[in-house]
Amino acid sequence: MALSLKGKTALITGSGGGMGRSHANIMSKRGADVIVHDIKEDGAKETADMVRANGQKASVLIADVLDVKDFTSKIKAAEVDHGKIDILVNNAGVSGNKLMMEEIDEKTYDQMFDIQVKASFFATQAVLRGMKERKYGSVIMISSIYAMGGSDFASHYSAAKAALSGFTKAWAREFAAEKIRVNAVAPGFILTGMTQGSNTPEMIEERGKNMPLGRLTTPKDISYAVAWLASDETEMITGQVISPNSGEVIVGY
Ligand SMILES: NC(=O)c1ccc[n+]([C@@H]2O[C@H](COP(=O)([O-])OP(=O)(O)OC[C@H]3O[C@@H](n4cnc5c(N)ncnc54)[C@H](O)[C@@H]3O)[C@@H](O)[C@H]2O)c1
Repeated sequence: MALSLKGKTALITGSGGGMGRSHANIMSKRGADVIVHDIKEDGAKETADMVRANGQKASVLIADVLDVKDFTSKIKAAEVDHGKIDILVNNAGVSGNKLMMEEIDEKTYDQMFDIQVKASFFATQAVLRGMKERKYGSVIMISSIYAMGGSDFASHYSAAKAALSGFTKAWAREFAAEKIRVNAVAPGFILTGMTQGSNTPEMIEERGKNMPLGRLTTPKDISYAVAWLASDETEMITGQVISPNSGEVIVGY
């Protein structure tokens, strides 16, 4: 019962496909209404249909997170439409494209930090007022194992994800008095549109075989962690990073 999200409204950024869609599916099955955000209209509409098929209210919010003014004003309009936003999943992101340090130009660097870091900051700021007024909220940042262990490529991606851990820790302290919890979920390798192009089927199979727990983590495994952190079962959990990663990285502190 505690895992139920009945009566809650969740905004999931980048939920027009990939893991964001999976979070919308699991969370709506547990009773949450969902504001489906993405830059891709078709994908967002499909996710919203899935939420409705699960018996919950869905609305579609189309915005490029790089346009902070447009993105945040649409978040505020969606909050008015739904009456509240209880849960924010900062999920929208782009791949590091396996770029080596010398290959990362200024535009690519700025885009990475703007999409992953700046957008998460301002999306959270947009929902904060309502959460403070209601003294209730769960903010979930989607990080990565690269934030903790680094990677031998895509240092801009690793650093942007590590910045989300900084927000998680700081906001957990800053918002605790208002009963707003902030946690991060840090996936390992997950097969989605983001990773499919840059890995051959052989590489993916090999990676799965080498996982300590014997298989690759799936979007659903990540959604279970996200939905749990959104639920009242975790009302005493804040400032934490949970990493469903098939045992590939063991999180320290
Ligand atoms: N796939 C993995 O192995 C993996 C591992 C660790 C963390 N992650 C993180 O998980 C999250 C989801 O990734 P995914 O694997 O589902 O990838 P995905 O590409 O399927 O989903 C990302 C979504 O973000 C949206 N998006 C991207 N740029 C946007 C913009 N400027 N404005 C609005 N929306 C935008 C995309 O349209 C897409 O729907 C990302 O933050 C990613 O960094 C992924």
